[in-house]
Amino acid sequence: MRHLIPSYIRVPVVFFAIAGLIEYFVDSGDQPAFIEQPVILLFLLLVLLFLIAIEGIVGTMDNILYQSLDEEGKARYDAQRAAPSKLALWIKKTYDKLKGAKPIEEEGEIILDHNYDGIKELDNNLPPWWLYGFYATIIFGVVYMARYHVFNADDQFDEYEIEYAEANRAIEEYKKTAKNLVDVNTVVVLTDAADLNAGKKIFEVNCVACHMADGGGGIGPNLTDEHWILGGGIKNVFRTISEGGRDGKGMVAWKNSLKPIEMAQVSSYVLLFQGTTPANPKEAEGDIWVDESEDASETIEAQESSTEDTTNETEEDATEVIEEVQTVASN
Ligand code: HEC
Repeated sequence: MRHLIPSYIRVPVVFFAIAGLIEYFVDSGDQPAFIEQPVILLFLLLVLLFLIAIEGIVGTMDNILYQSLDEEGKARYDAQRAAPSKLALWIKKTYDKLKGAKPIEEEGEIILDHNYDGIKELDNNLPPWWLYGFYATIIFGVVYMARYHVFNADDQFDEYEIEYAEANRAIEEYKKTAKNLVDVNTVVVLTDAADLNAGKKIFEVNCVACHMADGGGGIGPNLTDEHWILGGGIKNVFRTISEGGRDGKGMVAWKNSLKPIEMAQVSSYVLLFQGTTPANPKEAEGDIWVDESEDASETIEAQESSTEDTTNETEEDATEVIEEVQTVASN
């Protein structure tokens, strides 16, 4: 058996089988296991060395054994080596069976009588491998049709939708546990007392020097009015804190010293100043910030109630805007 497969095939096959098994069982994410964990590369190298060593040792032992035989023994050994093994015989028999062809000596039995200018036809059986493969496709086809077209099992589009929904759920789940992942696109106003308290502490340690404890402003602008230089709302405030203000104004980028979640906490805390009255308010700077993404309908309502002479036209405009906002939001 051993001498049927030469070692230059045996060693790579065994080696790659082991490597494949490792790859299958070691969870290494997107990268191959041996790159993710260099120790596996070391292990594989050892395995390779080991395999080659075994080949070498067994080959040498074979050789020594052979040399120690007398002439008669050598002849017997050679004869046994040359004889086809049982496995090889079995493979050949199975192969012939699968082909289903008659051996050339028996072709006389299946020759058809007609004769085209000396060309004759054999009435061979269909090769069994082909025939059974054909039956298998018929069975497959019936099962497939019943499953997907009669009983309406999930086709690939449904499967895609399901997996997509599952993945979305997993992302939501992940985001909940990984609060620290917030960035300017995902940040939302935090309302937990714990978060706001943390935000307050961060503000008191880092920000009061320029913005005052009550947000009234000093070197930095007043944070209590609805005027914003760099834009209000959680996203803009988060961005300002993370990236800093305009050059030379004194507001640095805090992303170097605060974690994302800390910036989200202090941003939420800063927004609490809105509408409060500080002891020494700095005069307003920047423009009144109107949040166009979320409270647009509220602002419109506010505007409507303030301007008494609301014509039907503006009302229509308003509902249009609301509708627009809703479609934007639902997208
Ligand atoms: C060294 C003084 C200084 C410190 C400390 C400081 N800021 Fe500022 N901050 C400023 C200045 C100056 C501006 C105005 C920047 C500009 O005009 O571009 C500003 C702007 C801001 C704005 C935007 C205001 C607007 O109207 O758009 C926010 C929000 C803010 N700071 C929050 C913070 C927070 C939170 C901290 C603490 C983590 C902090 N700041 C620490 C000086 C400071």
